[in-house]
Amino acid sequence: MKKIHVGTGKPYDIIIERGVLDEIGSYAAELSSAQKACIVSDSNVAPLYLDRVKNSLEKAGLAVTDFVYEAGEARKNLNTIAGIYDALADFGLTRKDIIIALGGGVCGDMAGFAAATYLRGIDFIQIPTSLLAQVDSSVGGKTGVDLPQGKNLAGAFHQPLAVLIDPDTLQTLPQDFITDGMGEVIKYGCIKDADFFRFLREENALEQIERVIEVCVSVKRDVVSRDEKEAGERMLLNFGHTLGHAIEKLGNFSAISHGMAVAIGMVLMARAGEKQGFTEPGTADQICELCRKYSLPVTTDYDFPALAKAAMGDKKTAGGGISLVLLRKIGDSFTHRVPLDELEQFIIS
Ligand SMILES: NC(=O)c1ccc[n+]([C@@H]2O[C@H](COP(=O)([O-])OP(=O)(O)OC[C@H]3O[C@@H](n4cnc5c(N)ncnc54)[C@H](O)[C@@H]3O)[C@@H](O)[C@H]2O)c1
Repeated sequence: MKKIHVGTGKPYDIIIERGVLDEIGSYAAELSSAQKACIVSDSNVAPLYLDRVKNSLEKAGLAVTDFVYEAGEARKNLNTIAGIYDALADFGLTRKDIIIALGGGVCGDMAGFAAATYLRGIDFIQIPTSLLAQVDSSVGGKTGVDLPQGKNLAGAFHQPLAVLIDPDTLQTLPQDFITDGMGEVIKYGCIKDADFFRFLREENALEQIERVIEVCVSVKRDVVSRDEKEAGERMLLNFGHTLGHAIEKLGNFSAISHGMAVAIGMVLMARAGEKQGFTEPGTADQICELCRKYSLPVTTDYDFPALAKAAMGDKKTAGGGISLVLLRKIGDSFTHRVPLDELEQFIIS
């Protein structure tokens, strides 16, 4: 068992342990005085794991209800949140009770947002079951939903009571989502950890998944502990995301998955950084090679004017400029502000 402490305003632990899914009841009883719990999950994950989580909570003396939505990003919206509120209110959850997020990043973001807002905020525990959620989205307290106008436009910072990661759940995760999660895994090597980047290149990361999860959440923990609300350093976690989001947007958020779009975004941004003299030559080729090793795409058919236009709607734009995350070299990242009207020129490479 690995325990990683997160020192945010409201501190909490991340537990990485095979089989921890069956221990949720003891953690809930130890960490809270909840008498009721609502498990939020999706239509793929619930048939696989909901009963185990429910049994464990009931064994610890909690009364349990659940809310299961149809899997997929398309359901990450305010209608689903309204459904969760109904389930919470109908079951009579009070301020002392808890929500359990059992699923991927969509589930964690929505259950977390419901927890942040129901009764002006109640506790929640994350049980991430996708690779992306285990290495990234379950840590750091960002919660929210998509609006018709764009992704993650409504949300709140709300730290969980604990994050329980059971790597065994990855055995049922479809291969495409394993590949997708590797986009964010490679990002951590790029922005903060050259040794980890080398490890990903020299070894088969998927055979040592617990080590991969531990390194990624440790890097994220360090960053969010220093900058909980993304006033500075936390922006580095967005490496590859400005152009990645643009690619996702141009594909109506259905043509390409998030991690795959981020992989292309990292390669394009490293190439732009090299061309502008910020990034050590050869860096983009190294990222390209590593992404290919884990079956991630590295090119896009969208042209630079279209990418720049789509990127301008990014949340990181403000005051006529956009903060880009660039690398000096592998493992060493920084932010660089570019006026919006120079973005297209900057990324052409
Ligand atoms: N809050 C943050 O800091 C943060 C960071 C990165 C991404 N995100 C968000 O995360 C979301 C993407 O996360 P995701 O890719 O996990 O999406 P997801 O929750 O839709 O899960 C991906 C797919 O895998 C299935 N699945 C999950 N675990 C499974 C398992 N163990 N076995 C079988 N199937 C399983 C799901 O049903 C779904 O079909 C996006 O909405 C993104 O905005 C949030």
